[in-house]
Amino acid sequence: MPQWFTSKSDPEDIRIQETLKSSCVLPRHIGIIMDGNGRWAKMKGKSRVAGHVAGVESVRDVVEAAKQLGIANLTLFTFSIENWRRPKLEISALMRLLIKVLRKETAQLRDNNVRLEVIGDLSLVGKDVRQTIEETRAQTRNNKQLVLTIALSYSGKWDITQACKNIALQVKGGTLDPGTIDENLFASFLSTATMPDPDLMIRTSGESRISNFMLWQSAYSEIIFTDTLWPDFRRAQLYDAIREFQNRERRFGQTSEQLKSNE
Ligand code: IPE
Ligand code: IPE
Ligand code: MG
Repeated sequence: MPQWFTSKSDPEDIRIQETLKSSCVLPRHIGIIMDGNGRWAKMKGKSRVAGHVAGVESVRDVVEAAKQLGIANLTLFTFSIENWRRPKLEISALMRLLIKVLRKETAQLRDNNVRLEVIGDLSLVGKDVRQTIEETRAQTRNNKQLVLTIALSYSGKWDITQACKNIALQVKGGTLDPGTIDENLFASFLSTATMPDPDLMIRTSGESRISNFMLWQSAYSEIIFTDTLWPDFRRAQLYDAIREFQNRERRFGQTSEQLKSNE
């Protein structure tokens, strides 16, 4: 397997990155719903698990390109709470793959200024997975360039519900005045409290749905649906998505004329 971050980028790749960096605002946070591993494998006559294994190569390329571009936050939807309903064998293969990849890549992440974070209901996840995550987290804790967040056993409804529960507990305990609850306070109880909302959200595989990813946080995300299956998604497709993002007008409720007069 190729080493991360160490390969010298080819001049064409560097040229594309420079154009993206200079032409317009880069997204501060990109969220990706990595879908289509099973269909990719089926098309090739392979097992679903082989599709997940192939998807790791896409993760590596996208993480490396995001870091080189200077994207501050990249969140990858890796396993949803609903995915616990999959066949037990597929779940255990996915968890083993996650452990293997984290163990193998932790040193690369640590040495390349990438911090690993995880969001999701980890109470549902096995102890071996939790321990591996903690190890990678600890080793990359002081890194600053790219925060790579794995959404594992995550769902947007779970995130909002756990925030409500913790707010209710603080109100009950007398440490929070309900009158002070506003959008900013609520967001500070979400699992994404320390990051900006995703500016760009990408879903691969041709499905046009959010599948319970960051529901609150995506209120004003630019969403790009692409037919590319996740194992075929590489930096070139990421660049295409960023280019499309840069060509969109983000109005946040205002009119186009208002935005132009503010320029
Ligand atoms: C995404 O690929 C990976 C996970 C959800 C864990 P899928 O496994 O959902 O692939 P398809 O959608 O069946 O092709
Ligand atoms: C969404 O993919 C979840 C992840 C990518 C982790 P799914 O394959 O689970 O989504 P649905 O069920 O087709 O909506
Ligand atoms: Mg799927």
